[in-house]
Amino acid sequence: MNDHSHPVRRAARQPDQATGGRFTTALAHPNIALVKYWGKADPTLNVPAVPSVSITLDALVTETRVRFDGSLAADSISLNGEELPFASGQARRISACLDALRSQAHTQLRARVETRNDFPTGAGLASSASGFAALVVAAAAALQLELSPTAASKIARAASASAARSLFGGFAELPAGRAGEDVAALSLAAAEHWPLEVAVAICAEGPKAVGSTRGMIDSAATSPFYGTWVETAAADAAAARTAISQRDFAALAAVSEASCLKMHAVMQTTCPALLYWNAATMATLERIRSLQQAGTEVFFTMDAGPQVKAVCTPGACREVAEALESVPGVSRVLTSGLGGPARLVGSSCV
Ligand code: DP6
Repeated sequence: MNDHSHPVRRAARQPDQATGGRFTTALAHPNIALVKYWGKADPTLNVPAVPSVSITLDALVTETRVRFDGSLAADSISLNGEELPFASGQARRISACLDALRSQAHTQLRARVETRNDFPTGAGLASSASGFAALVVAAAAALQLELSPTAASKIARAASASAARSLFGGFAELPAGRAGEDVAALSLAAAEHWPLEVAVAICAEGPKAVGSTRGMIDSAATSPFYGTWVETAAADAAAARTAISQRDFAALAAVSEASCLKMHAVMQTTCPALLYWNAATMATLERIRSLQQAGTEVFFTMDAGPQVKAVCTPGACREVAEALESVPGVSRVLTSGLGGPARLVGSSCV
């Protein structure tokens, strides 16, 4: 195993000694689910009702730095250079994640957290996944906690289940769990196993209307298709695992598009309806269908937002990105390879 396999392994020390006024910094990448997570077996512990399979992207980055400080009366958090209001939803979610780490480190110290994304936040680009993965890695190291990737993944999952997958690079899976079960993601394969590429068509820049957490709870309560969604998810995850291990692009494309469209069928039949697509989303899907008919190895997936992620075989990304740039309503296209796990990048005094 290389260093990346153990992103938060450090020598144990007393947490109160550990802060030393220094910031500890970690990087994490968002991941995109090919077999989707949508639904909770345990909303309190945030245990997923379905398994999900993802790829981690290297071109999009969250950088988070954390300093535990005895002079702070409360956690203070900045996101993309702006202070989060005390007790706002986002601040409470971050503090709850820090509480899990504080409890393991037996400390009450509050933290200064500064986190920054180099891509749109809260717009269906998995900023909560990379955000909580980077937070757990940085804060655990700042507290001198020795956590395995599995232990770190469980803490990230409790904050945001997709974040559990961003602890790992390449291809990852988060299994379904039962109520009360503390599940963690696991690595299916490193990026080098099959260096797929992704073009992300930005179809709207603003934040999404309904967040995933609220949306999937509403889906479980109201969508007539939710039961079928849960019942068919294990077979989808198994098909994706086989396709990844055999590098079978056609099989991965089939199960990924099917899982995405099933999830959006559940979203669209939720009450009130979760309509994340816009006209540019639909036009991008049509362009991807044309590329497929012309023989390009590409497939689409979308999450809780209008952006379309086009996954392609190594080398096909440039052609796909150029085709998507001219789709009406697409403001820009980001491209990425597959990335590594969440990791520490150092510590500094300022
Ligand atoms: C559509 O992980 O954001 O992106 O666990 O409530 O924080 P919480 O939800 P979150 O949901 C992600 C949903 C998705 C599909 C996926 O990433 O698997």
